[in-house]
Amino acid sequence: MNVKFFNIALATVVAASAVFADGEAKETAPATGAVRMITEATFPPYEFRQGTEIVGIDVEICKAIAKELGKELKIEDVEFDSVLPSLIAGKAELAAAGITVTEDRKMMVDFSHPYVRTGIVFVYAKDRPFEKGEDAKGKRVGVQNGTTSADFVREQLGQDPEMFDSPASAFAAMKSGKVDVVIADIDPAKNLIKGEPDYDISDFLTVEEYAIAVKKNQPEFLAIVNKVIDELDASGKLDEIKDEWTAKADALQEAEGAKAE
Ligand code: ARG
Repeated sequence: MNVKFFNIALATVVAASAVFADGEAKETAPATGAVRMITEATFPPYEFRQGTEIVGIDVEICKAIAKELGKELKIEDVEFDSVLPSLIAGKAELAAAGITVTEDRKMMVDFSHPYVRTGIVFVYAKDRPFEKGEDAKGKRVGVQNGTTSADFVREQLGQDPEMFDSPASAFAAMKSGKVDVVIADIDPAKNLIKGEPDYDISDFLTVEEYAIAVKKNQPEFLAIVNKVIDELDASGKLDEIKDEWTAKADALQEAEGAKAE
């Protein structure tokens, strides 16, 4: 969609939501097109596949944003290192993929208010524990492509990570001895070791915050995104969403582990 058109569409949406500010009429307002979310869906509990459907915490947040706009949500799944380039190329209005706010990324996109405070951890075999960053020096460290875990290995350890297309494939490579340790965000890492008694995670190696990314210079649109996040947070709904999808992702992971045995 070209930028000019999008701005006009947005102005219309802003006006419409003002008209329906009493909340009543909004329910019956016709959906005019869709809001597109771009993600990478191997990251439970934020985004993962349940059958063919993409579900999770980020999906729920984006659904709430779409609802606020009176539109339906469409989700597109790409490699993690294509998420922000796709947003910038205009393939979606929202990028939501457990995306950590970083200075480099802030030069490319605008971020919403953060909705999670988190960080990355080691995932290791219990008979070969990793605690501090230095423990991984000179070791083969598996990470998901394009993530802050990959940055950590390059910047803090001064070496190249082994790249995988998902945290789960990095974990599988560790189990088969192809890497010594994995670094991933704590929530997907906890999910990976569900039903895996021989593996554990370390304390945080970093402090990070997730936010939703939008194209630069769209203050009205970003204000709507922030309003939805702030309301979900203040009402306690955000915590409910997090608990609900963490439990669902864990149940799915345990069921798949049981199937694999
Ligand atoms: N938080 C990390 C980052 O921003 C990892 C995010 C990976 N997300 C995903 N959906 N695979 O780099």
